[in-house]
Amino acid sequence: MYKLFLTGCLAVAVTLGVASFSIADEMPAADGAALWTYITKTSPYTKWSFWPDHQGMQEGRAPHAPLHKVFVNKQALESTTPPLKYGAIEVKENYSPAHELKVITVMYKVKDYNPKDGDWFWVKYSPKGEPLKAGKPKGCIGCHGTRSANDFVLVHEFK
Ligand code: HEC
Repeated sequence: MYKLFLTGCLAVAVTLGVASFSIADEMPAADGAALWTYITKTSPYTKWSFWPDHQGMQEGRAPHAPLHKVFVNKQALESTTPPLKYGAIEVKENYSPAHELKVITVMYKVKDYNPKDGDWFWVKYSPKGEPLKAGKPKGCIGCHGTRSANDFVLVHEFK
């Protein structure tokens, strides 16, 4: 019994050790909850950058909100030609005209997730992080797919 307890402790210690070691560079699964944890805790998106040609608050078009900010991570910024690098994430905060945060829409590039449509994982979150839509929604892909040559990205032009 005592031996079993010790083995259990060791297993927990090893698991914790591995988890804290890999947390910095391991990307989340294509899953709404895992991605939310990643973009708010592991690598908070508010500390990321903007595309050089799309800085800060910008006016947007339907169906997104009238105002938005698009934050991009390192993998996205380092992508100088389409397609974007795997692990690239774009987080779009969608605001009302009174500057209230209404919805957060995210594109996350995941290897082999959906090769026929650019391997993007799409999520629409409430401001509290509830995934309202996630996966390969036809709406997101249909509209963004009009710019598949720009790897489905609409706010930044690759030159
Ligand atoms: C009818 C067209 C349309 C649909 C449907 C649509 N989008 Fe967009 N999306 C846009 C446009 C236009 C932009 C450019 C910014 C703006 O005008 O708001 C954009 C920008 C974005 C961005 C910023 C990154 C970029 O460069 O494209 C993200 C992230 C995003 N959309 C996610 C989504 C998600 C997730 C869905 C589905 C839940 C979705 N979009 C559905 C038109 C659309």
